[in-house]
Amino acid sequence: MDAIEVIRAKRDRGGLTTAQIDWVIDAYTRGDVADEQMSALAMAILLNGMDRREIADWTQAMIRSGERMDWSVLDRPTADKHSTGGVGDKITLPLAPLVAACGAYVPQLSGRGLGHTGGTLDKLESIPGWRASLSNDEMLDVLRTAGAVVCAAGSGLAPADKKLYALRDVTGTVESIPLIASSIMSKKIAEGTGSLVLDVKVGSGAFMKTTSTARELAETMVALGTDAGVRTVALLTAMDRPLGRAVGNALEVEESVEVLAGGGPSDVVELTVRLAQEMLEAAGVSADPAKALRDGSAMDAWRRMITAQGGDPDALLPRAAESLTVEVPSSGVLTRLDAYAVGLAAWRLGAGRARKEDPVSFGAGVTLHAKPGDLVRAGQPLMTLHTDETSRFDRALEALEDGYAVGEASEDHLPLIIDRVTAE
Ligand code: URA
Repeated sequence: MDAIEVIRAKRDRGGLTTAQIDWVIDAYTRGDVADEQMSALAMAILLNGMDRREIADWTQAMIRSGERMDWSVLDRPTADKHSTGGVGDKITLPLAPLVAACGAYVPQLSGRGLGHTGGTLDKLESIPGWRASLSNDEMLDVLRTAGAVVCAAGSGLAPADKKLYALRDVTGTVESIPLIASSIMSKKIAEGTGSLVLDVKVGSGAFMKTTSTARELAETMVALGTDAGVRTVALLTAMDRPLGRAVGNALEVEESVEVLAGGGPSDVVELTVRLAQEMLEAAGVSADPAKALRDGSAMDAWRRMITAQGGDPDALLPRAAESLTVEVPSSGVLTRLDAYAVGLAAWRLGAGRARKEDPVSFGAGVTLHAKPGDLVRAGQPLMTLHTDETSRFDRALEALEDGYAVGEASEDHLPLIIDRVTAE
């Protein structure tokens, strides 16, 4: 077999055979197919698509490129959640210990932020001492101690995806539903979870800007998980405005701890509880997550999880050196607070990174004092910007210029939970 034959087949809108897919993924991982050849194939896939069988074969080939983790030594079922990413999406932080407190194990491999969306590992790393890199044995120890572990994927997990995702990032081939779905699901299936809940975000702050494209991605991923023997469901949820009131690493940890203490913004609480219910149902565990938030057992699991990974749950979190308040321009109803604009502002304040190797500022970000639909008065604080370098304020304010509006009546925004997608 050779790469040109495979590229030509997809370029000419043909289906790739299982043998072609197995060969090309394996040869690319070993370095026998060159980056420029894989780029051409990725572009042909982006333009001409893949059918369900091809996507399943592609996903399985990427799983086989590395190790598949196995949690069968544990005495309770495993459940995980994956979000396609959004602004202020800190849900993993309260959710993982909450589900653990309810009786399922949560083995979660997470990522770092790139661009305007934050990464779970960056958020947790704002806790002094907390460690993202664990060996498989350490992961198992943390799971046994705390019921939940959130850490970085090791280099042995779906190495084909690692290489291909970096290539897609620089060749304009990220935005392909077959490639996104197989990339996410190869890692989640290789992670070895027994059940999986997908939170597919919709709106300006998300990968998928419309409900119909988000639904297509959700259906594709649910089918992949189900075919691989992982009980998988998806929720489509709103990302036209930020989630909660805190955007930025340490700010989001603080808000997550409020949720675990029984408070926190209503949208974060609602989504956390709903996702926990879905995870527990998929794992076959009967428990009430709202009660575990109220009675402190989720907070106890959080403290165990942070401590088991070297973190100090009582340590003061980093704070940015400088802050600036943006005021409401006129009285009325806050009709719009755009997720992408707020995410971009937080990124420019230092909360995110432009290149993988850049550091993040843990204290940087945005605190929101009003959300769409709220009555506001001219001059009251709308949001506070936090950064370590005052020179960053101007570009953040630029990002926010068309990002909010005050009017007479609230514009329509998406319901927090738009829909639920299950296997047919
Ligand atoms: N996240 C992933 O892991 N892969 C993609 O292709 C897109 C988002």
